[in-house]
Amino acid sequence: MKQPTFLLPPLALGLSFGLSFGLASAALSAPATISIDASKPGARVSPTLYGAFFEEINRAGDGGIYAEMVQNRSFEDAPAPQAWQWLQTQDAKATWRLDRTAPLHPKNPTSLRLDIFQPGRVGIINQGFKGSTLPGKDNSEAAQAKWLPRFAEDAAKSRDGLAVQGGKTLLFSVYARGQDFKGPLTVSLEKQDGTVLSSRKISGIGTGWKQFEAQLRPTSSDTDARLVVSADRPGTLWLDMVSLFPRDTFKGRKNGLRADLVQMIAAMKPTFLRFPGGSFMEGATLKDAYHWKETIGDVATRPGHWNIWGYRSSDGLGFHEYLQMCEDLRAVPLYVANCGMAERDFVPLNQLQPWVEEALDAIEYANGPVTSTWGAMRAKNGHPKPFGLKYLEIGNENGVGYPWGGGKREDYLPRYKLFFDQIKAKYPDVITIANIDTEPDVPAEIVDEHYYESAAWFMEQATRYDNYDRKKRPLYLGEFAVTKEAGGGNMRAALGEAAFMTGLERNGDAVILSSYAPLFVRPAWRRWNPNAIIFDGARAFGTPSYYVQAMFAAHKGDVNLPVTLQDETKMLFAVAGKLDKSGEIVLKVVNTGAAPSTANIQLAGTTFLGSQAQTFVLSAESPTDENSFEAPTKIAPRANTISGVSSQFDHVFPAHSVSILHFKTSR
Ligand code: AHR
Repeated sequence: MKQPTFLLPPLALGLSFGLSFGLASAALSAPATISIDASKPGARVSPTLYGAFFEEINRAGDGGIYAEMVQNRSFEDAPAPQAWQWLQTQDAKATWRLDRTAPLHPKNPTSLRLDIFQPGRVGIINQGFKGSTLPGKDNSEAAQAKWLPRFAEDAAKSRDGLAVQGGKTLLFSVYARGQDFKGPLTVSLEKQDGTVLSSRKISGIGTGWKQFEAQLRPTSSDTDARLVVSADRPGTLWLDMVSLFPRDTFKGRKNGLRADLVQMIAAMKPTFLRFPGGSFMEGATLKDAYHWKETIGDVATRPGHWNIWGYRSSDGLGFHEYLQMCEDLRAVPLYVANCGMAERDFVPLNQLQPWVEEALDAIEYANGPVTSTWGAMRAKNGHPKPFGLKYLEIGNENGVGYPWGGGKREDYLPRYKLFFDQIKAKYPDVITIANIDTEPDVPAEIVDEHYYESAAWFMEQATRYDNYDRKKRPLYLGEFAVTKEAGGGNMRAALGEAAFMTGLERNGDAVILSSYAPLFVRPAWRRWNPNAIIFDGARAFGTPSYYVQAMFAAHKGDVNLPVTLQDETKMLFAVAGKLDKSGEIVLKVVNTGAAPSTANIQLAGTTFLGSQAQTFVLSAESPTDENSFEAPTKIAPRANTISGVSSQFDHVFPAHSVSILHFKTSR
């Protein structure tokens, strides 16, 4: 496809650009001009340009969008009952320990054993996702043992316990069995001072494993509540899969997702959703690689696995839940399959076939007819209709040659080829994505690029794809974010990304998919900074980068219009497009400077209808400004209507701002 001509000023490169960022250099400069030529529409912009990338990192899933409120419900997380506390009144004699003698399921081998010799009140307490991550990538028993005291200290300091709302029903469940135990069990939600918010009795515990359920409805709200499961009779008890979910999950789904957090993804209007990673999918070593078949079906039979980001993943948000989330968000699934390459070790080529088949089976599970093996399994799990998996990425960051691992080109190519050939032979409609440009050695359909850099770097790279050879494979900007001088997610980062994204959209025929990364962080569990959405048990807010993603997605042009930008300050970045349905022209302008910039907007090739335009502006007083739990929308887009619009008019773009202007035209 022919590329439209964009007459952009040469960018100041390198250090000088980086230094000038944030200075009030517009003050002495001539006014800028932004000319749009509507008579020369350029390339069509990929309808799937803006998507989202979900990875289990920083507690994005467990303790995040996966609505389970109990940490370590299956007692598999660590060699000790991590995240659980022991409750024993002075009059009682009792012990507790992890036990593997009578597993609930072979894949869920550990349960908790309580021996009550003399009651009092004896029980266990869970305070949700208090704690912190294991630093580094070593998850050996020795490393975990060293970390457990630190975890307990961090948990004790936290006030981010179970967040419950007065009058809102919570669904409790537990597997239990007993020996010489006449019951009952008491399950209660309590404030930290012991005030009971809701309580239920569970009776009928026998010698075999059985699941018990109870509904809890707290009398008042609390953001630091605790769950207590206790007994006041003697005997021996085994507990497993101690679970608490809000009844009101996203779309009310069972084993569902936290509604407020998924709403935040929905507001980004992602056209696709990438899952499950990221390095999470690779594992530091193959032993911790993601295997989707271990993440479907009854959650009590899912083994979970160690997550490279410093905690165990329950895989309660598994492959099926991911596909369901895509459907609920109307986002196309983009699944990343492990191609037999972890960060530090790889499957020998002659043993790779089962890994290829695992990817083929994932496609069958998502898309196959109910008469197929895995399509039937999907139906059994409640979704007879195919999910429509569209993209499959073969590996993550494999073959790039990163110093931390993931393999070199020569490691990736033969493995990629085995996957590519068999996927395309069996599922020609599924579009594959390569981690590197595999051509001319092996065919590629889309190539994924990842960038974590400074704001200055992203601004310099706003023209990166202007001369991209359209004969080459289209690109997926699979992970990108400003990570240097970005605070916990500040306006500087958002401006760098927005400047870069004007280049993505201008080249929306070459760059056909993009996703900011990572999406979520629960602050105590931060292993990566910054992230788009910051949350705790009860609250969530978007960083300025989050709003940039949401704004660009909500106002994407369908077809590009050439823009000539003259701006001595070099602080402005712009892209324009037209909307098919309304015929409106959408102009996006990023002012990265510390002074307001007046630009003369000139339109050729059509006329504006009326003298008004709708605007959406994200701005901050300082590039270091951030949102916070206390001021969650300090930096958020503000809608407005401006007047005085004509074929040539002046408009002031505020300092440190991202502006989107909608013009009605005569078409
Ligand atoms: O987004 C965080 C990490 O960055 C991803 O897991 C990995 O793909 C990349 O290196």
